[in-house]
Amino acid sequence: MTRTASTSAPLHDLLAQRWSPRSFLPTPVTDDQLRSLLEAARWAPSAGNHQPSRFIVGRTGSPAFDAILGSLRPGNRAWAADVPLLVVGVARLRDPDGSARPSGPFELGLAVGQLITQSHALGLHAHAMGGFDADAVAQAFAVPDDHRAVVVVAVGHVGPPDALPDELAEREVAERRRLSLDEIAYGAAWGVPAL
Ligand SMILES: Cc1cc2nc3c(=O)[nH]c(=O)nc-3n(C[C@H](O)[C@H](O)[C@H](O)COP(=O)(O)O)c2cc1C
Repeated sequence: MTRTASTSAPLHDLLAQRWSPRSFLPTPVTDDQLRSLLEAARWAPSAGNHQPSRFIVGRTGSPAFDAILGSLRPGNRAWAADVPLLVVGVARLRDPDGSARPSGPFELGLAVGQLITQSHALGLHAHAMGGFDADAVAQAFAVPDDHRAVVVVAVGHVGPPDALPDELAEREVAERRRLSLDEIAYGAAWGVPAL
């Protein structure tokens, strides 16, 4: 089953072959792999090199994993229960002087993007989720008021689609679609294709 992106220009394999599965094997993510993922996030760019993004790591069988899993919406919890690693991405929304940090979620996105790309470089797969209760995470992990959990990323070894319930198994093999470049990249004016 190929999940490789169909592109109008060549892409690096890590980008073209990345996709978000729901079927994961119980095979653990090793300590070295976890360290590598977090290093990838650590080396993301940030405004002023303030490095505002934080991560909460839950490995299967730990209280942290159970708390993160419990925060997921039921539709996500159904498949994420079998994933060996859940990582919460936390954005800083205010700087220490109290001023707003509107770039916080963007900086977290860059860091999570690096974590996801590094997952694939290690032969793992990653699946980001916005469907979770950020307040539940804040309570379980005493996240400070000026920070906000924005995403949970499931990471592990991809499993077979038929290990999933029928509806999810169908989505696992459905064609991967994107808008065309004309629809997203503008030049002379809004809506006028750049290329
Ligand atoms: C911020 C964000 C939130 C997402 N939330 C969910 C989610 O709650 N549940 C889910 O199954 N997938 C979620 N996804 C995964 C997307 O559905 C997926 O990336 C998209 O359908 C494209 O598929 P691909 O990653 O395989 O290319 C999320 C992705 C992002 C970036």
